[in-house]
Formats: sequence, structure tokens, C-alpha cells
Amino acid sequence: MFPYFIHRNITAPLRRSVGSFFIETGMSILNIKDSTVPPVRYDFVGGSDFKATGFEFLRYFIEFGGLRPDHHVLDIGSGIGRMAIPLTNFLKNGQYDGIEIVPRGVHWCQEHITSKFPHFRFHLADIYNKSYNPKGTCRASEYCFPFEDHSFDFIFLTSVFTHMITEDVVNYITQISRVVKKSGRLLSTWFLINGESQTLIGRHPEALQIRFPLAAHPKIYTVNVRNPEDAIGFDETFVRSAFSNNGLKIVEPIRYGSWCRRDDYTSYQDIIVCEKS
Ligand SMILES: C[S@@+](CC[C@H](N)C(=O)[O-])C[C@H]1O[C@@H](n2cnc3c(N)ncnc32)[C@H](O)[C@@H]1O
Repeated sequence: MFPYFIHRNITAPLRRSVGSFFIETGMSILNIKDSTVPPVRYDFVGGSDFKATGFEFLRYFIEFGGLRPDHHVLDIGSGIGRMAIPLTNFLKNGQYDGIEIVPRGVHWCQEHITSKFPHFRFHLADIYNKSYNPKGTCRASEYCFPFEDHSFDFIFLTSVFTHMITEDVVNYITQISRVVKKSGRLLSTWFLINGESQTLIGRHPEALQIRFPLAAHPKIYTVNVRNPEDAIGFDETFVRSAFSNNGLKIVEPIRYGSWCRRDDYTSYQDIIVCEKS
């Protein structure tokens, strides 16, 4: 836990800001700035390759989620547009709404995406999250999505339930079930705790060590009990019943990820697709 804490909170941000300073200065001297990618210092959504991850998920949205260019899409936890940017080329006759709790993420997306693609809208929700928005005033467990019932053909959350606690996730699943259309689909990513992932975490120290239970929040495990929202894993049986209790049928198979050092995987996190029945 301790080396992970140092990496996430000290080494990685330092490397990002020093690296980004040199990369961005060099790019502006050479006049080769890519305006479709936010500056690295704005990127609070993880250390992966920004563009490659966006295109990787666009493929999953189409292939696993059945996304079409005329769909109305909801991106919950839209961050700084990592998923929205590749969608701008795909959603030709559709519409996109993103909800995000970090103001600078919403503002960057409004300025750089909505200005060119007015059918892409970004909404700020002032919700508390210990890692992302510690000054937030609303609770995710009580938040009502600002949309009519049955509005969306396709909803996704990439690397968002992996930063939320039990009661917040339960409310979000209820809200999703309300705003998705009949037969509409949801694609969400998780760290699912089951027999296999627990064995692999124990066997491989390099696996993401999501193994510390949280007494106050049943069914979840974290890498860091002091700041659980750093990375949260959910008991797979809990996730399955939360979906089925809300009329969301899992479209099997679950595509398990490499986070716990699986040999056979699709992406880094586990991917679940559901259909509203
Ligand atoms: C790892 S980032 C992923 C961002 C984006 N989904 C992506 O894949 O690029 C996690 C995101 O979830 C957002 N988030 C955390 N709690 C949230 C909540 N209750 N509602 C909406 N977004 C939330 C964070 O602000 C952050 O942007």
C-alpha cells in the first residue's frame, strides 16, 4: 500500500508535470500542438495514453455495446473528454451528454469540444469524492441525474465505479436504469472481486492490491484504507444483483481485465455490458 501511495501521490504527478512542461514547451516551439488532446498537466484521469485509450473504448462501445452514430449517449464521469473526443467523429446524427464532478474537466471540454461540436454537452455536478472533489457539497448516493426517464440509448462509465463507494454505486445504478431507454445498453468498468481475482492478487505482488475490506462499506475492497476512493473493487455477486434488481440484464460474458495479472484479458479493468429489460 505504501509504495502505491507514494507513486500515486508524489512520483507520478511530479513526473507528469515535469515531463509535460518539456513536452508542451517543445511542441509549441515546433508548432505541433495537438488541439484535440488536453495538456498533460490538466489530465487527472490516469496515466494511460490519452488518445489510445479513447479509441480502444470506442471500439468496445461499438463492438460490445452496439453503439450507433444516431444514438443519444450519456458519459458519467466524463473527466477531461478522453472518451468524448473519439466519439465526436462517430456520433454524426446522435447526441452526447457528459456528467463530471471536477470543474476544470467540464470547463476544458465545454471550451474545446462543445465549441466545435454543439451536440456534445458537459454538465457539472457538485458531488463530493474524497479523491476527485473533496470540496463537493452533494452526495452521490442522493444525486438525481438531470435527465428525463428513458432518454439514452447508450450509457457508459469508464473507470468511475472503481472510485465510488457502495451506496453511491447503488444510487447510480438506479438512476441509470431510470434514464436508459428500453433495450438500451450500459457499458461499465470495474475491479471485480471473485475467487480468481483474489487468488491472483495474493500470488502476484505486482497486481493492483485491491484486498483491504472496508468495515463501513460492505462488499468493497480498496488499495488504500486511508483514501478508499483511490481504487475500489466490488464483490462480483453484489454487482450482479445490483444490476438485476434494477432491470439491467448482464450481456454475458463479462470481459475480465489484466489489473490482477490475468493471462487472458480484454482491457485493464473488467468490462460489463448490460441491457435494460
Ligand atoms: C479515472 S477518471 C476517468 C474519467 C473518464 N471516465 C475517462 O475514462 O477518461 C474517474 C472520473 O470519475 C469522476 N467521478 C468520481 N466520482 C464521480 C461521481 N460520483 N459522479 C460522476 N463522476 C465521478 C472523477 O471526477 C473522474 O473524472
